[in-house]
Amino acid sequence: MSFKEKKILVTGGAGFVGSNLVDRLVEEGAEVIVLDDLFTGRKENITNFNSIEFIQGSVSDIELIDKLIKRVDLVFNLAVRNIIVSTKSPLLDFQVNTGGIVNILLAAKKHGIERVIYTSSASIYGNPRYLPINEDDSLSTLNPYAASKLSSENYCHAFFESFQVPMAIVRYSNVYGIKQSPLNPYCGVVSKFFESIMNGQAPQIHGDGEQTRDFTYVSDAVEATLLAALKPKAEGEVFNVGTGKETSVNELVEKIIQIVGVKTKPIYIDRRDIDNIRRRVLNIERSRKVLRWVPIKTLRTGLEETYQWLKSI
Ligand SMILES: NC(=O)c1ccc[n+]([C@@H]2O[C@H](COP(=O)([O-])OP(=O)(O)OC[C@H]3O[C@@H](n4cnc5c(N)ncnc54)[C@H](O)[C@@H]3O)[C@@H](O)[C@H]2O)c1
Repeated sequence: MSFKEKKILVTGGAGFVGSNLVDRLVEEGAEVIVLDDLFTGRKENITNFNSIEFIQGSVSDIELIDKLIKRVDLVFNLAVRNIIVSTKSPLLDFQVNTGGIVNILLAAKKHGIERVIYTSSASIYGNPRYLPINEDDSLSTLNPYAASKLSSENYCHAFFESFQVPMAIVRYSNVYGIKQSPLNPYCGVVSKFFESIMNGQAPQIHGDGEQTRDFTYVSDAVEATLLAALKPKAEGEVFNVGTGKETSVNELVEKIIQIVGVKTKPIYIDRRDIDNIRRRVLNIERSRKVLRWVPIKTLRTGLEETYQWLKSI
C-alpha cells in the first residue's frame, strides 16, 4: 500500500508538523486537502500550494468535516490549540482538540475511511515515574492540553472498539525543525533559542536548565506518522515518537550556541508554570518493531538543518 493517488485530509496542514507532512504526501503522489483555520498556521508553510486544495475552516465545524471526510481515504488530524493557548482557554481547547477528533471520528464512522491518524503528545505522561517512558506507563493530565489530547486518544480507541473505525495514534515528544517559525509566539524552545541567539540576545532558560526532553527532528516525526497510516499492524495502536535520547535544556542551548558560532551565555529565569516536567525521554521500541521506524537525524544534524532554514527565511 502507498499514498499514490490516495485522497487525504490533513487538518492543521498549514502548521509546523502538518506542513512538513503535506510536503511528503504530495511527494508520494497523494491528493491532499488541507483544512486549517490559520490560528498558528501560515499558508506560506505549504510549499506545494498549487498541488493541494486549501480550505480555511475549523475542525469544530461538524458539517464541513462531514463533507470533507466523505471525499477522502485517510485523515491525519494535526489541528490543535497548543498548550499555552489551551491553558488560557480550556473551553476552546476542548472544542478544537477534543471536539475536532470527535467530529472526524463521527464522519469516519458514517462514510467509512481507511484510517484516522491522530497526533497526540507525550504531555499525557505528566511527570513520569520511570524512564524511558513506555506507551503503557501511567498517564497524568497536568494541564487542559494534556487532558484534551488524552481524551482525544480515548475517543479514537472508543470508536475503534465500538464502531470499528480504523485508527492509529502517534505520541510526539518535542518536535523541532524546519517550518517551526519563531514568528509563532507558541513555537517550541528550539526555535526560540535560535531566534534570540541569532539576534545577538542571550537565550533565556526557565529554571536551572537541567530539565530534560526528547527532541525529535520533524522529518523523523513525519516518517513515523506516515508509517502509522500505512502499516497494517499499526491499526488500533499507539506509538511513541521520539529518539530515546534524553537531552537537557542546558545541553541544547550549548549546541545551538556552537552552531550559530557566537559567544553568549544563557540567562536563568523563573521556572515555567506549565509544561515544567523535570525529565522526559521516550522508549521507542514499539515503533521500531511494529512501524519498522527509527529516527535518522542526530540532534546535531537536526539543529544544523533548522539553522540553515532559519537563516533562509
Ligand atoms: N510540535 C511539537 O513539539 C508537538 C509535540 C507533541 C504533539 N504535537 C502535536 O502535533 C500536532 C501538530 O502540532 P504543531 O507543532 O505542528 O502545531 P502548530 O500550531 O504549528 O499546528 C497546528 C495547526 O492547527 C491549526 N488549527 C488550530 N485550530 C484549528 C481549528 N480549529 N481548525 C483547523 N485548524 C486549526 C493551526 O492554525 C496550525 O496550522 C498537534 O496535534 C500537536 O498536539 C506537537
